Amino acid sequence: MPSNVNRLRQLFADALSAEVRDRAMLRFDHEELALMPSLRALYAADVRFVEVIGKWLIALAQSINARPPALRLLDEQRASGWFDRSDMVGYCAYVDRFAGTLAGVERRVGYLRDLGVRYLHLLPFLHTRSGDNDGGFAVRDYGEVDPALGSNTDLASLTAALRAQGISLCADFVLNHTADDHAWAIAAKSGSVTHQDYYHRIADAGLVARYEATLPEVFPVSAPGNFTRVDALDGWVWTTFYPYQWDLNWSNPKVFAEMSLAMLRLANLGVEVFRIDSAAYLWKRLGTACTNLPECHLVLRALRAVAAIAAPGVLLKAEAIMPMRELPRYFGSGGRGGEECHLAYHSSLMAATWAGLATQRADIVASVLTRSPRPPSGCAWINYVRCHDDIGWQVLAHEAAGHGGCAPFDLDWVARFYAGEVAGSYAQGEAFQSQGLEHAHGSNGMAASLVGLHRAIASGDAEQQQLARRRLLLLYGLCLSGAGVPLLYMGDELALGNDESFRLHPQRRLEGRWLHRPAMDWVLADAVDAGDGIAAATHATLRRWIGLRAAHPELAPSAPLRAWTDPGSAVLVVARGENFLALFNFTDHVQTLDLRAPDHGDAWFDLLAGCRCLSPLRIEPYGTHWLVRQ
Ligand code: GLC
Repeated sequence: MPSNVNRLRQLFADALSAEVRDRAMLRFDHEELALMPSLRALYAADVRFVEVIGKWLIALAQSINARPPALRLLDEQRASGWFDRSDMVGYCAYVDRFAGTLAGVERRVGYLRDLGVRYLHLLPFLHTRSGDNDGGFAVRDYGEVDPALGSNTDLASLTAALRAQGISLCADFVLNHTADDHAWAIAAKSGSVTHQDYYHRIADAGLVARYEATLPEVFPVSAPGNFTRVDALDGWVWTTFYPYQWDLNWSNPKVFAEMSLAMLRLANLGVEVFRIDSAAYLWKRLGTACTNLPECHLVLRALRAVAAIAAPGVLLKAEAIMPMRELPRYFGSGGRGGEECHLAYHSSLMAATWAGLATQRADIVASVLTRSPRPPSGCAWINYVRCHDDIGWQVLAHEAAGHGGCAPFDLDWVARFYAGEVAGSYAQGEAFQSQGLEHAHGSNGMAASLVGLHRAIASGDAEQQQLARRRLLLLYGLCLSGAGVPLLYMGDELALGNDESFRLHPQRRLEGRWLHRPAMDWVLADAVDAGDGIAAATHATLRRWIGLRAAHPELAPSAPLRAWTDPGSAVLVVARGENFLALFNFTDHVQTLDLRAPDHGDAWFDLLAGCRCLSPLRIEPYGTHWLVRQ
């Protein structure tokens, strides 16, 4: 094998232009230690490996040659963990819902900058399947922007405009599956065996049943099962999500080669962060749940090395909505860790915060925070309140059963609470994919609706409005003061509510997640500085808090965090270092906190209220305080 490695190294070196060769070879020699062992472990047994990898390395070199000078400069400027700053705040939006097209987004860069955003996640914008396409998560061409949203030129223009404002663009890399009208799927349906091998085609109904016996279901109601019968293939194709999303066969080295190059082409258009969609599902093995398998981590490790060689400023972000014990491995677990994704969604913390709010218990979040390992150096959690998906409850099954160091709680009840099905519930959400309200799967709804804000506005009840507003701010107060990069979901800064219009849309009406994918309200957004309504007030508060966060380095993602529940008050206390305390009252009644207690010291300034604290501190129902030691 060493002679092979030398031959491959030489192939790569020869294909590099003189201008980039020295630096690229330094990176290659460093990353090769992660790349080659991962690729060999995944593919060495495959007879196609040596030939595929040889051609691929030449293409990899060509992608480095083609990297625009502005992006090469960015690569040079980026040190490990460059995002580990307290002013790093993200924003997530659909292109069409936010601003129509990529050019429209470019015209709104100033809005994001003024809010304090440093990282923009635009949901899938590549050429998508015609017809139903899971909000763009069924890609038919990874090399081209969806014509309805613009062109590759528009994308390069947008990324340049964002960079000029210090904002990094994050794009989805939908690598678990392609659309069934992708060129590979079309070729597979026309009988190309080469392309059938890009997917998991199974001819034997018995084998399908054996796989199904141990597989979970992502969409048990709208897309039950994990396989779809395709007559043109004379068998079944693996479809973890919708039947038109065909899972790629990552055990085929050609899939690795093609997909990694597709990622680099987008990086060369200025994408700086890749959200690795459905990261947990990439590898399949009979008799397992086919999630989080070791080979899936090897694929991520190899992709990370590829990015580090060809576009070293680029970050990978794991979207693995899995129980907490699985999450840290997405940062990498070999050596000192840190060799897989730089970022990972903390889905357990997000779900725990919502569960804590419904049950009025601070200990659920405290237990998740206490057990969350600190990511390896150069890595960080993504903290978020809402996203385009449902709030998935199953990630908390372990905690709900009482194994997380807190008392058990009932997830089905929590899901019913957010569906407004529980007496006294203020929430206006809906259950997602739940088989009856007895089996919690997920909950849909915009944050402002789930906290009851729009119901309170409709009823004209000022006290309920105030409580709902505090609940929304508690969620974001925790997100912005936690250990990680906080991500705002489009519209939450204006307290936008649910969008019921999807029920009339022919393709969307059966997909409840569209409830929380409203169009941006630019009338409200453009008036925030002059307005005096709830949207303007929420915007002003969040913008102020983002500014406070930026001014306090103790809130940087990797800065230390300790969390506990104050024994006397059921208040969640989050300490960032020695001099910063964030306090959250998860209950609907006033709590008091003795600031003279040894843990808290006695001289604190309340950043959010802008005044010195008196002890005992009175914390209003659902109140949030950020204190700095004086
Ligand atoms: C991810 C996306 C989700 C999509 C699924 C299939 O989980 O967040 O919206 O349905 O992948 O691509």
